[in-house]
Amino acid sequence: MSGQALVVEHLSKTFGGEHALREVDFEVRPGEVHALIGANGSGKSTLIKILAGFHQPDPGARAFLGETPFPLGSSPDAEAGGVRFVHQELGLIGTMDAVDNFGLARGFEVAGGRIRWRAERRKVAKLLARLGADIDVRVPVDTLSLAERTMIAIARAIDVTHGDVRFLVLDEPTASLGGPDARRLYDVVERIRAGGVGVIMVSHHLDEVLGIADRVTVLRDGRRIGTFGKAGLDRDRLVELMTGRRLAATEVPAVARRDGEPLLSVRGLTGRVLDGVDLDLWPGEILGVAGLFGSGPEELPPILLGLQRRRAGTVRVAAASPGRITPARAHRLGLWFVSGDRAKYGLFPTFSVGENITISDLRPYVRTGVLRRRAEQLGAQEWMRTFDIRPPSSAVNIMQLSGGNQQKAVLAKALRARPRVLVLDDPTRGVDVAAKAEIHRAMDEVAANGTAVLLCSSDHDELARLCDRTLVLRKGAVVRELSRSETSADVLGDLVL
Ligand SMILES: Nc1ncnc2c1ncn2[C@@H]1O[C@H](COP(=O)(O)OP(=O)(O)OP(=O)(O)O)[C@@H](O)[C@H]1O
Ligand SMILES: [Mg+2]
Repeated sequence: MSGQALVVEHLSKTFGGEHALREVDFEVRPGEVHALIGANGSGKSTLIKILAGFHQPDPGARAFLGETPFPLGSSPDAEAGGVRFVHQELGLIGTMDAVDNFGLARGFEVAGGRIRWRAERRKVAKLLARLGADIDVRVPVDTLSLAERTMIAIARAIDVTHGDVRFLVLDEPTASLGGPDARRLYDVVERIRAGGVGVIMVSHHLDEVLGIADRVTVLRDGRRIGTFGKAGLDRDRLVELMTGRRLAATEVPAVARRDGEPLLSVRGLTGRVLDGVDLDLWPGEILGVAGLFGSGPEELPPILLGLQRRRAGTVRVAAASPGRITPARAHRLGLWFVSGDRAKYGLFPTFSVGENITISDLRPYVRTGVLRRRAEQLGAQEWMRTFDIRPPSSAVNIMQLSGGNQQKAVLAKALRARPRVLVLDDPTRGVDVAAKAEIHRAMDEVAANGTAVLLCSSDHDELARLCDRTLVLRKGAVVRELSRSETSADVLGDLVL
């Protein structure tokens, strides 16, 4: 059965009359890494969800595994065909632990009518160790960080104990993983590919695409622009294929002035991993925090926002020094949080896109005690244009947006509030290159207007682009502070190890 390609022809999908995919042809061969790229909302996840059986295609589509027809829109057939998925939203049950999430997908090992729990735990831990992840497999996964949950979803997809893997489909697997963490995943992907598995990988990290893909298919507005061998492709060409235009060079922002007292002062901050961290952040400054997952950056935002208790240390915001930080207290002090983990923090899933944006401050739209709906809509639409949020209607439910477009809305909500201190944790996760450039400009602008920005990011290019200074964490402690001119993705990639 090996050696057969998975071929899709004439794949279209409409949602309420809007085309998400139009007549797309796509082929993935055994033993190749095939990157699927395109701007936010171009149809990548929709294509994948049809392969996985989550959505039904419009009539007229056909698919084959070798010569054999492959039923689209059927998850049992995808499973039987050995097609495995890591979805953009990961597809884990938050209240269950890693072991149960594995079993849920493809069954447990049973001996004498009993589940062999110890063997199951060992297996899951071993698969995670292959990815370089040391994760407690017995805690509910929604108590884990996004990077940890990503590792669990990937480990589950490559588990071969219950059937062969012939095709592996990864929808933005590295969106929450930094350079070195991502490289460990590439090594695993490389090994899997060498074993004859065909890999489809969606990514907005174009350097990563150029590094590991054999072929690249580009989608734009639901249409396939083309499929290309890697030779002759570079970053600029990929951006042009995705967007139809070249990306303007980014201007370097002015150096932030540090006048007077810092706005945020942290001393001896200690958590589960964090170990005696000091930092100062002045108004108008963007301070970066880099570090591998598990080394501490993931703890800073939850502690500062009162979502996790600190074990020791002091936090001062302006003159206030709250003993115990609660989310309400953090909010009163002017702290705002944007996380790449949008499902957990930030999204109001039953609200429209517009409401998700304007909720951060409705005052501009209130006259004589009444919310002016029309004014609110126009206000939301302005931000939607700034960040190119699609579809451009503010009335649609936020959950109907593509992942990157949801993230843009979460960011717009926070940036328009012009908070005193903006705490960011992978804020542009899943945002495409063009929109990211716009968002970075908007971040420069809020900083220039006096907001103090703390940016924890696994995206080292982002840190290098935005930060006046960057702290590097290892095992919970600050090991280096870099100035803007010292910071680059390469330097950070080495220092975090
Ligand atoms: N359940 C849904 N209901 C209505 N529209 C949807 C639904 N799912 C996706 N869409 C629309 O289909 C289009 C393609 O979305 P899709 O999620 O495939 O984009 P994507 O290429 O994966 O983008 P991203 O890079 O942001 O993840 C978008 O316009 C989106 O709003
Ligand atoms: Mg997507």
